[in-house]
Amino acid sequence: MEKPIRILAIESSCDETAAAVVENGRTVLSSVISSQVEEHRKYGGVVPEIASRRHCENICWVVDGAMKEAGMTFGELDAIAVTYAPGLIGALLVGVGYAKGLSMATGKPLIAVHHLRGHVAANYIAHPDLKPPFLCMIASGGHSHIVEVQDYTSFKVVGRTRDDAAGEAFDKAARAMGYPYPGGVYIDKASKTGDPKAFHLPKPHVEGSPFDFSFSGLKTAVINTLHTAKQREIEINVENLAASFQQAVCDIISEKLGLALDEYPHDTLVLAGGVSANSGLRTRLEADCKKRNIRFCCPPLSLCGDNAAMIGAQAYYEFLEGNIADLSLNAVASKKIEIE
Ligand code: KG4
Ligand code: ZN
Repeated sequence: MEKPIRILAIESSCDETAAAVVENGRTVLSSVISSQVEEHRKYGGVVPEIASRRHCENICWVVDGAMKEAGMTFGELDAIAVTYAPGLIGALLVGVGYAKGLSMATGKPLIAVHHLRGHVAANYIAHPDLKPPFLCMIASGGHSHIVEVQDYTSFKVVGRTRDDAAGEAFDKAARAMGYPYPGGVYIDKASKTGDPKAFHLPKPHVEGSPFDFSFSGLKTAVINTLHTAKQREIEINVENLAASFQQAVCDIISEKLGLALDEYPHDTLVLAGGVSANSGLRTRLEADCKKRNIRFCCPPLSLCGDNAAMIGAQAYYEFLEGNIADLSLNAVASKKIEIE
């Protein structure tokens, strides 16, 4: 038996400080997540300056916790991985700086991981037999991409959002409805009892780009509906509005993925990113895949949001490809998933 490859991974791109030890890209030996969401909730969104400071305070005990949980010493690791892009620059820098320091002190190779590649890789942990190629919908707070995953480290973006990301639209619509930040999960809950046919909301298309998304018009329609009702002193059933909004998002994503699968046929569709926790979207895409007779994969809820286990999973494949970073590594706020 070959010796397993064990990687310590660090994630700090937004408001979660996370560390994990992952074996051979598929087995999670430990995973620690320190979320700052309660603090940012007071401001209705992530405050970048606060996020950086909290990462700085938490990163040592989060990494130590992951090592202890895995029952390992730094010397036993094969590599140290870190999310270097995309994300809040001040937040990313904390993880990158810490990982570089650890790499220098231990002499272990450093692996730079793209956050969205990590979201895709969450599925490798959940589905041990899943292998590229496949088509993937990545829907997070900052990005909405349809990606052809050609190989573990080779990606082709087929479609992308022209304005708001799906998660951003969920959060902004939820905020207008009076739900706390981050509001995606509240819309999801409200949709379970609301009537999705109660409101007719737009499903915008991007002229000439059938695989691209535009969610800002849908979000604005929700905000306008609420404003108009307030002005006219009409009571609105927020659960119905939430359900109608979620249904519209599911319709849009389902339709674009259908077109993308016609053009880029694959026997597996994968869902990834924070919005992959949405119960309506999971059910819809599963049904779509059943109709097409293709496999549908999504992560368990524990791996949908930001975590370091997914970074450790992707890091293994970057390591096998020889994608090793040096100590000149810097954090990058915005970076395409295709280019390493
Ligand atoms: O991937 P993620 O954890 O962070 C980024 O990389 O952006 O995604 C966070 C996003 C937020 O917008 C959050 O509201 C959304 O994922 N989200 C959901 C649900 N759970 C989280 N959106 C819809 N339904 C959910 N159940
Ligand atoms: Zn994320």
